[in-house]
Amino acid sequence: METRCARGLEHVAIAVKDLDAAVHYYVHVLGFAPPELEVVAEQKVRTAIFGHGMGRIELICPTDSSSGVAKFLEKRGEGLHHICVEVDDIVATLAELKAKGAALIDEVPKIGAGGAKVAFIHPKGAHGVLTELRQGGR
Ligand code: CO
Repeated sequence: METRCARGLEHVAIAVKDLDAAVHYYVHVLGFAPPELEVVAEQKVRTAIFGHGMGRIELICPTDSSSGVAKFLEKRGEGLHHICVEVDDIVATLAELKAKGAALIDEVPKIGAGGAKVAFIHPKGAHGVLTELRQGGR
């Protein structure tokens, strides 16, 4: 019996080296309204979020060289870092994914941007794209 957990694309996250320069591009070249800025201490990143509700764009920039995003930038350069899928019940979704053998990075949700509960699926088990699951938050 399949349970349908995913509600849709919550955001895409793009790793950037210089947050101010990237924000300038999104606002002054692409024409987005100024973003909501946040420091996510647990993930050692600063974020700039464009848009509201589903389908937002999130720029992420490391605050520390030990951040996973810093390592990503070193290895791959700027670009798509992850997609985020909104789910109704992240704990139940993680249990279901684990039972199906998904390559979970987080078996227990942590707190992400906007105070949401988040957990990541490794790109090796997600057709090459780091995938965030998210429940709640702003
Ligand atoms: Co994200």
